[in-house]
Amino acid sequence: MDIEGRVVVVTGGASGIGRALSQAFGAAGAKGVVVADLDEPGALAVAETIPRALGVCTDVADEASIRALVQTAEDTYGPVDIFCANAGIFELGGAEVPDEAWQRIWAVNVLSHVYAARVLVPKMLERGEGYLVHTASAAGLLTQLGSAPYSVTKHAVVALAEWLSITYGDSGIRVSCLCPQGVWTAMTGAVEREPSQVLGSTAGRDGMLEPEQVADDVLAAIRAEQFLILPHPEVATYELRRAADRERWLRGMRRVQAVIAGSLPHDEAVAATAADRGAETGGGETGGGETGGSPD
Ligand SMILES: NC(=O)c1ccc[n+]([C@@H]2O[C@H](COP(=O)([O-])OP(=O)(O)OC[C@H]3O[C@@H](n4cnc5c(N)ncnc54)[C@H](O)[C@@H]3O)[C@@H](O)[C@H]2O)c1
Repeated sequence: MDIEGRVVVVTGGASGIGRALSQAFGAAGAKGVVVADLDEPGALAVAETIPRALGVCTDVADEASIRALVQTAEDTYGPVDIFCANAGIFELGGAEVPDEAWQRIWAVNVLSHVYAARVLVPKMLERGEGYLVHTASAAGLLTQLGSAPYSVTKHAVVALAEWLSITYGDSGIRVSCLCPQGVWTAMTGAVEREPSQVLGSTAGRDGMLEPEQVADDVLAAIRAEQFLILPHPEVATYELRRAADRERWLRGMRRVQAVIAGSLPHDEAVAATAADRGAETGGGETGGGETGGSPD
């Protein structure tokens, strides 16, 4: 889909990937960019940097708020051509995470995408076209060490995006799913300041990207109408390894976790990975196998 002349909505647009996306759509000649975020001053500030843009306060966890957002976009610029469900939050921990926190991350990271599809799919079907962009994560294809809520919700986003693409792809609705590893944003910056948190440690393994690079990849994928967006291309290899031998992938991820926790020296982990791989292991491959696909 061409971006010029299109009406675009970006949630989580006040910061990080969402801000870079909003600005990239503006620079690509969108008819209007609606920058939506819980952080209203942030959304307004980003909108001010874009020629034809509007900042809107939206809580994506609230269906009425998403409906109001779409209505505002339509009233201001016309039917929404491209909707980027990008807002997301992170939560450390596993089964011990309280229900309220599980429910919050489920609502923000997953239900928000359902609400957007619920309001937009019928309209897009009627027009015979439209584009849904879902920000998931490499964690949605692999895992997120240290965070069950993030892993689970991002896997759910990938599943939803695939389902939407299969169900509506022949009716003119295009779907893309963004699955980056580490990107320099408030989300990773905040975690980095706390060394005991594992996210920062795994994030940089394959290189941290700037949000602007990720936004460029998203716009290129929309133009090419390509489903999976992997700003870190090595994620495709990790996914293949995971699918090819789940047991080995799980062992590899446990080793990464142990290295991060300090209970396994890095050299020993690399050697164990090489042994695990057997004949197919090449020197350059052991690093990737050791990470086995670190997520964000
Ligand atoms: N940064 C990374 O390394 C990375 C990697 C993979 C995926 N992601 C995903 O990218 C997306 C954007 O994250 P980011 O890294 O730019 O983080 P960020 O914290 O910079 O931006 C997230 C934005 O979402 C907004 N937001 C949070 N809850 C909201 C809600 N209920 N309603 C509306 N807005 C809300 C925040 O105010 C913030 O402006 C998220 O879905 C995140 O999971 C990030």
